[in-house]
Amino acid sequence: MDKIVIRGGERLIGEVEVSGSKNATLPIFASSLLAEGTHRFHNVPDLRDVRTIVEVLHNLGVQVSQEGRVYRIDATHVSNLEAPYDLVKTMRASILVLGPLVARMRRATVSLPGGCAIGARPINLHLMGLEAMGTKIDLRGGYVEARADRLKGADITFDIPTVTGTENLMMAAALAKGTTRLQNAAMEPEVVELANVLTEMGARINGAGTRLIEIEGVDSLQPVEHTIMPDRIEAGTLMVAAGLTRGNIKILNCPIRHMETVVAKLRESGMEIDPEEDGVRVVGTRRIRSVDVKTQPYPGFPTDMQAQFMVLMSLAKGLSIITETIFENRFIHVSELRRMGANIRIQGNTAIIQGVESLSGAEVMATDLRASASLVLAGLAADGLTKVSRVYHLDRGYEALDRKLAKLGADIKRVKEAD
Ligand code: EPZ
Repeated sequence: MDKIVIRGGERLIGEVEVSGSKNATLPIFASSLLAEGTHRFHNVPDLRDVRTIVEVLHNLGVQVSQEGRVYRIDATHVSNLEAPYDLVKTMRASILVLGPLVARMRRATVSLPGGCAIGARPINLHLMGLEAMGTKIDLRGGYVEARADRLKGADITFDIPTVTGTENLMMAAALAKGTTRLQNAAMEPEVVELANVLTEMGARINGAGTRLIEIEGVDSLQPVEHTIMPDRIEAGTLMVAAGLTRGNIKILNCPIRHMETVVAKLRESGMEIDPEEDGVRVVGTRRIRSVDVKTQPYPGFPTDMQAQFMVLMSLAKGLSIITETIFENRFIHVSELRRMGANIRIQGNTAIIQGVESLSGAEVMATDLRASASLVLAGLAADGLTKVSRVYHLDRGYEALDRKLAKLGADIKRVKEAD
């Protein structure tokens, strides 16, 4: 297992490019199951989670080939209808093959994802929606066994906006007979991007990006060519890196129009964030101001930026309150930040951060994707050496983050555990 070693204190200066979005790629790759023929996807990020969804597709008999960031996916012959536990347990988003498989193949056996570090993360809303569309669901031996005739359109209301639940049911509804209405749907940009791809495939979808999405089912869909959108969470993580190091960077390919609440909060903390000709200029300030944040479904402040923002607040002047409303256990990074000198108290789903003058480098351990990013960020700002272990968590959702930061001037390198 690799470690990332950082000597803090270097200002980040220069240009950096954002990679394709992990949370757009995963549902779009799953959607390839809905059509016969070869899809072509460009700007696909080089991530562990992308390799996992490719493995899940291969296991279903789908042909996948890759040349750099271009993937060709041909799901004409789906020869297996099972997504096994040993794959799904490594990436819960594998559940995204359930809707497309039931819609096109009428059957699927997909392992229940189980919980993960940040919470129980049930899939009851995914299953409720599929049942409403005529799917018979049995839970047996840790697997979802789904059977259906042709799905039929239904009115489905989510009691909470679920991103992959909205995506799974939008894909299932695309081939159903009749119209499906998803109420209280997720509005994330990645949901809209999936709707755009489905529409390019021939689906009839209205309202993506609002709380009410209407899908009029069609008999078949066609393969598409599509370029994956940039990753707004990677972009936000890079912005925080500039904020922590009084840096001055230009982020290329930055999806700033999908980052309004994040940009607003970073500006409130004293950072300058200005769109330029071919990118976004991000300048950190010497005196970081404390800012309160409450995570919310899009367009609110994203839970996937909570850990990163907490690092910035740990060095802000004054007291800030961060409230996590999406997941029940997404403060795992706090104990490691405390070991670096952060002054953070937890009360239920609220973190109270008293800014400190400085953090000190330490040996820390990553526990989940965004927590690992926050530890790397803390290392950039801390005095001395920080060693982050278990960086396979980071590699799930960030493409070569250490190399991108090194190119901006950070003193950071990846070493083998044994070294
Ligand atoms: C997606 O996860 C993202 N993953 C997550 O990003 C992100 O944190 C999350 O949305 C929230 O924005 C992908 O898009 C692949 P949810 P998802 O269903 O869809 C509850 C990252 O770091 N819920 O929107 O699994 C659930 O427990 C990852 O890139 C149910 O109760 O999240 C949570 O409290 C982490 N029943 C809330 O809804 C359900 O059936 C929102 O979860 C489904 C969800």
